[in-house]
Amino acid sequence: MVVSYKHEPFTDFSVQENRSALESELKKAESELGKEYPLIIGGERIMTDEKIKVVNPANKKEVLGYVSKANQDLAEKAHKIADETFDWWRKTKAPFRADILFRAAAIIRRRKHEFTAHLIKEGGKPWKEADADTAEAIDFMEYYGRQILEIDKGAAVNSRPIENNRFHYIPLGVGVVISPWNFLFAIMAGTTTAAMVSGNTVLLKPASATPIIAYKMMEVLEQAGLPAGVINYIPGSGKEVGDYLVDHPRTRFVSFTGSREVGTRIFERAAKVQPGQQWLKRTIIEMGGKDTIVVDKDSDLELAADAITYSAFGFSGQKCSACSRVVAHEEIYDELVDRVVAKTKEEVAYGDPASYSSYMGPVIDQAAYDKILDYIKIGKEEGNLKTGGKGDDSKGWFIEPTVFADLEPNARIMQEEIFGPVVAFAKAKTFDEAIEIANNTDYGLTGAVITNNRAHIEQAREDFHVGNLYFNRGCTAAIVGYHPFGGFNMSGTDSKAGGPDYLIHHMQGKTTSEML
Ligand code: NAD
Ligand code: ALA
Repeated sequence: MVVSYKHEPFTDFSVQENRSALESELKKAESELGKEYPLIIGGERIMTDEKIKVVNPANKKEVLGYVSKANQDLAEKAHKIADETFDWWRKTKAPFRADILFRAAAIIRRRKHEFTAHLIKEGGKPWKEADADTAEAIDFMEYYGRQILEIDKGAAVNSRPIENNRFHYIPLGVGVVISPWNFLFAIMAGTTTAAMVSGNTVLLKPASATPIIAYKMMEVLEQAGLPAGVINYIPGSGKEVGDYLVDHPRTRFVSFTGSREVGTRIFERAAKVQPGQQWLKRTIIEMGGKDTIVVDKDSDLELAADAITYSAFGFSGQKCSACSRVVAHEEIYDELVDRVVAKTKEEVAYGDPASYSSYMGPVIDQAAYDKILDYIKIGKEEGNLKTGGKGDDSKGWFIEPTVFADLEPNARIMQEEIFGPVVAFAKAKTFDEAIEIANNTDYGLTGAVITNNRAHIEQAREDFHVGNLYFNRGCTAAIVGYHPFGGFNMSGTDSKAGGPDYLIHHMQGKTTSEML
């Protein structure tokens, strides 16, 4: 019997024993530096000459590894194997597939700090964020394992004395899973294992900044009993390998999480029916956000300042759910800005995430660093810089936690996704106006409202148009199975990762009717 789902608890690092355990894994991680990693196609390890150099964003000189890079020929080989494997994999029983995930989750749980230490180095995540990323990867495996068992029961449809009718879901086929670097373990693992446990075969192309954790997950899944060819690990250039796989006529679906630019490109390319293609490709596309916290005049300002500071600067603002804009009622605006600025200065220590005391680490790479500093320049023209604003890329890619005030709602830093530690404040005269400003972006991923006013909570529930809306808390940190996650409008297809209907997106319903 499978016990009911509960999310993986976060580690309490104020306990010395837990701190020592992670410190010891961080030391052990040093021995893995500079390793070479192969592709995995049909279970075969293939080492290529061309490699992706993976560095620690907090220390550019520290090379974590060299990861083999797939080209179009290898992508084709992997596609063929995934297609052949689908012929028999689709017939495997749901409990068999679910068990692979339950075993994999157990393996990761036993080696939790080892994975967390790796995420600190590969993703530049502070301890708390890296621990949460590992926990979320475990959660996805435990949750989707249980969900497929539910779906496997079939759905009730009516029969009649003359016929027996059934309705059940079958898998789609070969899926291309393309994942981002920011939840390098959780989103990569969640999107890949959802596709697999639903009975599909997978081509996994992880982000080029963070492909090593995906290799480590492959090792775990193999240890847990995943047969060769079901998931094929093919890191490579987004444009070269990504486009090829998306366009491939035998690709049945694409599950993408990443930027709006790439997501819309994939959406368009996947819509084109290629010669020989026998279906319309399914796309699951989750993209960026421009997430707002609204603060009402009747609200707990300390709670608001805490929620804003953590949502804006946890993992350097590099969450699709991060708070990058605040809309505050004019009566409490000045006090709220002062509190957030004070809290940022006092609490948001930034530095090497390998140190327990770092609240915030670096941003992921040079391109991100340059882009964020460009936005800070724009912010200086559009608003008032209250704190932060500087960067230092001498050792790693570090940017100060930055607060801008007095923005017009249509200013660029109020509209465009920056994906860095930058938060902008705008003022509203009324709660109605605050919700209007909150809704005036192309996106619709997360949002939060801080208020003591019950009527305003109900108003926001109806009118604040985001996929994940939170009251009296921050706008990040959705938990699998508790807060199904995904956004509206240009934030994506709202497939709701970690929710009860997520796996169905990877399947198709089949009706059978037998005359009696
Ligand atoms: P990105 O779009 O640059 O890259 C995502 C993935 O797409 C990578 O694996 C990349 O190699 C690949 N890629 C690049 N070009 C491609 C192409 N032409 N064809 C196919 N694949 C291609 O995004 P990123 O920088 O890795 O991640 C950050 C973005 O992801 C932010 O916009 C963030 O908001 C978003 N995000 C969204 C969610 C969500 O659930 N909505 C979650 C996490 C991140
Ligand atoms: N699950 C992540 C969050 O909610 C994306 O912050």
